[in-house]
Amino acid sequence: MAGATQHAHWSSKWAFMLAAVGSAVGLGNIWKFPYEAGQGGGGAFVLVYLIFVFVIGVPMLVAELSLGRRGQMSPINSMAKIAKEEGRSPLWSLIGWSGVVGAFIVISFYSVVGGWTLAYMAKSAMGAFSGITAAASQETFLAYISDPVMTIVSHVAFMGITIFIVAKGVQGGLEKAVTLLMPALFALLLILVIYSAFNGAFVATLDFLFNPDFDQLFYKETVLASGEVTRHFSLDTVLQALGQSFFSLSLALGSIMTYGSYLRRDVNLGKSAVIIASADSAVALMAGLAIFPIVFAYGLDVGQGGGLVFMTLPIAFGQMPLGGLVGTLFFALLAVAAVTSAISLLEPPVSYVAEKTSMSRRKVAITMGVAAGLLGVLSAYSQGSNLLSDVRIFGVNIMDAKDFLTNNIMMPLAGMFTALFVGWFVSRKAMMDELAIEDRSFRIWYFLVRFVSPIAVGVIFVKIIFDTIAG
Ligand code: PHE
Repeated sequence: MAGATQHAHWSSKWAFMLAAVGSAVGLGNIWKFPYEAGQGGGGAFVLVYLIFVFVIGVPMLVAELSLGRRGQMSPINSMAKIAKEEGRSPLWSLIGWSGVVGAFIVISFYSVVGGWTLAYMAKSAMGAFSGITAAASQETFLAYISDPVMTIVSHVAFMGITIFIVAKGVQGGLEKAVTLLMPALFALLLILVIYSAFNGAFVATLDFLFNPDFDQLFYKETVLASGEVTRHFSLDTVLQALGQSFFSLSLALGSIMTYGSYLRRDVNLGKSAVIIASADSAVALMAGLAIFPIVFAYGLDVGQGGGLVFMTLPIAFGQMPLGGLVGTLFFALLAVAAVTSAISLLEPPVSYVAEKTSMSRRKVAITMGVAAGLLGVLSAYSQGSNLLSDVRIFGVNIMDAKDFLTNNIMMPLAGMFTALFVGWFVSRKAMMDELAIEDRSFRIWYFLVRFVSPIAVGVIFVKIIFDTIAG
């Protein structure tokens, strides 16, 4: 990819596809998706999520890629340049700012969880999971995330790898890594799904993931102090699914726009978007199919949150033949998937600062990476019973607060304004020219970005702000 200069380009269409899929497929698919599906009641969440991915996500991917390719600069400067060309307010560059700042915040905590995967790879290699019970697995996880030294060591290691690749200019490293390792991750996930199908509660899993209970989607149960359970209308799960679809597709944080800026004109953006979204969804569903059979077989809590993957899979690794090896490989590949996403998160801030200053790309990557790493320490220490676990921001810990700010506020807003910009403020002719697709596909896409995306995102966003203020 980018290489050391500003206006570098992908070495081939294939390299772009792999890097984009590498950005999309990451912790969002294997760590976040299963636990959010678990908290959101399963099937209904999965269905709404998939609808968002294909009806809103794919058109947004096309929109961001086309803005990046037209701008040929970092998200901030690309937006400023296109707004100027179209005779629009320079304020549209705020979309770029939101992306660059949002990406910086997300990489700070993404790296913490990336560190968990490295630590779990090491644990697995040392045989820590051999014969582990469900209770011991939970304890192992809690002890680890509460350890002020180990969590920082792994966070620093993960951030270090990311900085190293971004600093080098990613042409050789990233492109080579994804070509080999993404297919390997896919194959290993498949093996895990098959293992879980034979050794876990597979039928219960299929029912949970694919048989939607729509009540779960629109109602929330609260247990009152009196012990009484009340049900009230709530769109939390729908919002969560929307946020997750954006996060998983790497939207609204400038990553896809930046990768678009390294594109040449011969790439078909619509086709690419469909491939990226399909591969991304396939990995998320496979992760669910690998994890939930174990969750159900061991009577674990589907709604337990961020520890789900780290507490459940070790149980399977501890029992299967060659489990130590399979576990090590799995966490290694998960770390790789996370690194290829982390690169695309560091890239937007780095590309902007590199444009703005005369510092070398290497220096910029190190500076931005170290700064984000320091911000990440707060997230690492907010977990389990770690040093800052008692700190609450609006009632949640630091990591969840950053997640809420980016996933539920900055990303929906940036997404909505991106759709409005492309749909209403850039000339139709410019977009037709940029996309170069047949008339019918263009009209469908145009309708989706002009009406469906902004309205859907807007309505859900207003609802969540309202809920937050009211509740
Ligand atoms: N899509 C990545 C994942 O699912 C995370 C990511 C989000 C990367 C936004 C870049 C931008 O893990």
